[in-house]
Parts: sequence; structure tokens; C-alpha cells
Amino acid sequence: MNETFWREKWQRNEIGFHEDQPNPLLTRHLPTLGLPEGARIFLPLCGKSLDIHWLLEQGFDVAGIELSELAVEQLFTELDVTPRISDVGKLRCYEADGLCIFVGNIFDLTETELGPVDAVYDRAALVALPEEMRRAYASHLMAITNAAPALLVCLEYDQSRRPGPPFSVDDAEVRRYYDKTFHLTCIEKPDLVGGLKGACPALEIVWIMEPRADAA
Ligand SMILES: C[S@@+](CC[C@H](N)C(=O)[O-])C[C@H]1O[C@@H](n2cnc3c(N)ncnc32)[C@H](O)[C@@H]1O
Repeated sequence: MNETFWREKWQRNEIGFHEDQPNPLLTRHLPTLGLPEGARIFLPLCGKSLDIHWLLEQGFDVAGIELSELAVEQLFTELDVTPRISDVGKLRCYEADGLCIFVGNIFDLTETELGPVDAVYDRAALVALPEEMRRAYASHLMAITNAAPALLVCLEYDQSRRPGPPFSVDDAEVRRYYDKTFHLTCIEKPDLVGGLKGACPALEIVWIMEPRADAA
């Protein structure tokens, strides 16, 4: 899954992952993190998700990163907001009040460029990446967010039934990446409505990730 793969998906409007309403797992479970009003939430690999609209409406600040500039342009158009655009290191940054979306590869985003983050919301980000990239992604995400608490939504299905993305990321794999740094609680494991693109049954797995006091 290289950068061209995703940019072409956006150019061809092949964005089946994009939901037409805020994700109910976010709206139901974000309060579990107990964030104060105005907290800054980071969405890695954010697309033009309506979750961003919802978080802004709740009074949160939002930061995100997305490879496709087309996606980010569409996000701001759909929000009806005119961005201020600047170059930041290897990335471009689209900003408005309470909103900062970087355009580029998450592996090029530094902790300094991102700024302080109170929480992470990962939906369709970890599972968008092939296995050989996922450990590096998880480590980088913890590094640039200073291991902020997180709400993580994963998918689990029989990977032999269809290739990703999205990829199946089971409980053991999540624990391999995050268990040293976070208390991990699986708070819900509903069936994915309609299965995975109608091809096979799948579970969505919702994790609350709270930093361990004694984390390395
Ligand atoms: C499956 S989509 C999920 C988008 C969004 N989280 C949502 O829920 O609608 C994955 C997104 O990550 C972007 N992406 C993939 N690899 C990336 C990377 N290395 N850095 C930044 N964005 C990336 C893709 O362009 C795509 O929009």
C-alpha cells in the first residue's frame, strides 16, 4: 500500500471506507476517555471523515493527517471552512479555528509539528496498513503523541477470505503493539453490519487505551 495506491483511490472516488454519518462507536465511547471540553484529539490517516465534523461540534480541537490533498480539500469544502495553508517540514498544513490537518505521510510528521495532543482516535487507520507497516506505525503514533490515551477501532475477520485493506487486526496483535504502554480494555465487539464488503463476516473491536503510570 504505497502513497500512489491511496492517492489514486481518492482520485477515482473509491472511498468505500468513508461513512455518511459520524461513527456510532466514536459517539458512544469517546466519553469513556473523560476528556475536558477543548481537548485536542488527533486522527491519524483521517480522510475526510464526518467524525471530524462531529468532534468539532462537541467543542474539541482536532488535528489529523492524511496523504491525499484532494481528501483534505473536500473536508474543508464540506465543513464550509476556508483553510489557511502553509508548508510545515515535509508536509502541508490546512488550518482553521480549532482544526489542523496535515497533508502527507504520517511517518514524516514529528511530535513538534503535531503539537500537544490529549487523545488519539484511530478508526480505519491501523487496519488500513499492511502487517509489515503496522508495528512501525504504532511506535511512531505513540512517539508523536507522547502516548496519549486513545480510542481504537479495529476489525477482525478471516484474512484468507479476502485481501486487505482493511486488514484484520486481532486482539493479540493490538496487545503486541500497545500493551507495554497502555492499559487496554476491549469495550465492545459488535458484528460489522453487512460483513466486510458483503464478502465475509467481521467484528469491529473497540479499544480504550489508557497510559500505564509505569510505562517505559
Ligand atoms: C481506510 S481510510 C480511513 C479514513 C478515515 N480514518 C475514515 O475513517 O474515514 C485510510 C486513509 O489513510 C490515508 N493514508 C494511508 N496511508 C497513509 C499514510 N502513511 N499517512 C497518511 N495518510 C495515509 C489514505 O489516503 C486514506 O484516506
